[in-house]
Amino acid sequence: MNFKYVCNDCGAEYSSDEIRYTCPKCESKNNDKEFRFGNLNVVFDEGELRALAGKRNLKPQDFFPYRLKDDKPFPVALTPIVKPLGASKKLGLKNLSFKLDCQLLSGSFKDRASQAVIAQAQAFKQKKIALASTGNAGAAMSAIGAAYGMEIVLFVPEKAPVNKLMQSILYGATVVPVKGTYDDAFALSICYTKNFGGINRNTAYNPITIEGKKSVSIELYNQMGKKVPDVVYVPVGDGCIISGVAKGFVDLRDAGMIDHLPHIVAVQSTASNAIAQAFETGKFLNLDAATTIADSISVASPAAGRQAVMRIRESEGWCVQVSDNEIKAAQLALARDCGVFAEPAASASYAGLLKDRDSLVEKFGKDVNVLCLLTGTAFKDMKVFDKAVKMPASIDNSEDAVLARFSKGR
Ligand SMILES: Cc1ncc(COP(=O)(O)O)c(C=O)c1O
Repeated sequence: MNFKYVCNDCGAEYSSDEIRYTCPKCESKNNDKEFRFGNLNVVFDEGELRALAGKRNLKPQDFFPYRLKDDKPFPVALTPIVKPLGASKKLGLKNLSFKLDCQLLSGSFKDRASQAVIAQAQAFKQKKIALASTGNAGAAMSAIGAAYGMEIVLFVPEKAPVNKLMQSILYGATVVPVKGTYDDAFALSICYTKNFGGINRNTAYNPITIEGKKSVSIELYNQMGKKVPDVVYVPVGDGCIISGVAKGFVDLRDAGMIDHLPHIVAVQSTASNAIAQAFETGKFLNLDAATTIADSISVASPAAGRQAVMRIRESEGWCVQVSDNEIKAAQLALARDCGVFAEPAASASYAGLLKDRDSLVEKFGKDVNVLCLLTGTAFKDMKVFDKAVKMPASIDNSEDAVLARFSKGR
């Protein structure tokens, strides 16, 4: 589709005939204390967007800025929506559902952004993609890169969680550990792209990542019979996923397919709450440090922070903050009441709903159609359950032992 880039902060417009990242006019405003300025937003030609409303068999990828030539190497589509009776009963919410993006091929939501960047690489005939990541984005880009025969160069802080890095190494990416922080790895990956070419996929830096992430909202619209939920809970670190989720609904509205936006709720850890604070105070200040156990949402200086706050406001949404203990409890509840293993960051969305349940019902009633987005699988890091699981004692290999074991208390 034809589109232009518009700066979220100063409104400057740029054509889409070359690869663009952030707004050059906003560069000089950036400093260590505040959220970065200058994320670019993709704005489609109005007529082309509205024409999508009449299209049969509409696919989320129809809303991509660049056409994906072929999705067979690594399809990113149709993760299940589940409505577990256990959780629904416990919360007294009839219309509660979960979108299982933890089931995407690399195990996280990040496949969506990576697919859109593959389409961008194809459009500009590039074979090399560099990025910085501490986990899921790197794994997703490495996986899809392997499937499309692209070269992936991944910069990581040397202290990044080993489990998720192993995945990228196994997919064949060139992994470059950096003696520094995630921000240092981010800067070095940009240096790499400037000197050695290809595309940079850094989250929020490359606006096409948000366009990939929005595919979840269009998929939801298709799966829910051309409707959208009333309220969507999203786990938030950098603010890129939530910006993508919101952009999907905005595109659907601008295409004339829905007449109102769902309320988007950002769930953050109390120990990593830069975006929630900015939403409440109107001051876009980085944190000194972020320390939550939910590593994927542990972010001190959110790369898409300004955009995320703008999108939450636009949807008349709000923020919920949860403690690490509430995240752990939600992770276990997802396993026990829903049959789902989600990583701590993903479980935060459910923790937010659990915390918010009473005020949600007060505002919207018990019939509210509410959806939690589960963004990553716990299978990548089952160690998080170590303390929660006590292995039961073995019984003798005999029928008597079975009778003894289950007769107790009869
Ligand atoms: C599983 C999972 N959930 C949530 C997030 C948060 O997304 P964002 O940093 O775009 O807010 C991430 C980001 O890495 C993630 O990997």
